[in-house]
Amino acid sequence: MPPERRGLMPKISILPLEKEDIPEIAKLEKLCFSQPWSEKAFLDAITGGNSYFVAAKTPENLIVGYGGMYFAAGEGYIYNIAVKKDFRGQKIGQNIIKKLIDYSLEKNLEFLSLEVRESNIPAINLYKKMNFKIMGKRRDFYSLPKEDAFIMTLFLK
Ligand SMILES: CC(C)(COP(=O)(O)OP(=O)(O)OC[C@H]1O[C@@H](n2cnc3c(N)ncnc32)[C@H](O)[C@@H]1OP(=O)(O)O)[C@@H](O)C(=O)NCCC(=O)NCCS
Repeated sequence: MPPERRGLMPKISILPLEKEDIPEIAKLEKLCFSQPWSEKAFLDAITGGNSYFVAAKTPENLIVGYGGMYFAAGEGYIYNIAVKKDFRGQKIGQNIIKKLIDYSLEKNLEFLSLEVRESNIPAINLYKKMNFKIMGKRRDFYSLPKEDAFIMTLFLK
């Protein structure tokens, strides 16, 4: 990787997701996942009161990544995180997760948990790097293609 692409590009900001960002986020979601969330699903989540979403943006307001979580009763669950292909490997994913962890600490959550495809090494490594631990497995959790999920959890207390 060329030196200028190592480390988070200083100009990328991780900001709370706004309604106007949804069409762009839904496009990225479609590119990254076989069963993507619809724009309505994103809208319902961000207006529902128990979710927190962030978008990674360039100074030109181009969305290059996003992440979101649900929280209730002291527990947090990451819905999804994705970074545009051309922008991967620049710590944007790591900084999105960091923002979700900071928010979880602010909300005094006990833990932050998620499911990830067993074969998704980049994501598993990213979560491990952020100190999430593999706590178990859900059989056939995913379809298209069918695959088991690892349950990964970060305990915050
Ligand atoms: C997973 C994903 C969000 C990572 O985003 P990213 O911005 O490229 O990741 P970062 O640059 O922040 O990388 C942080 C760490 O993740 C791990 N990682 C990231 N990409 C990796 C890869 N291709 N192979 C192995 N490990 C990788 C490394 O541990 C890396 O730390 P390092 O650079 O010090 O080695 C991105 O690959 C993506 O959008 N994938 C498609 C969507 C997806 O699978 N989301 C997860 C659903 S659970």
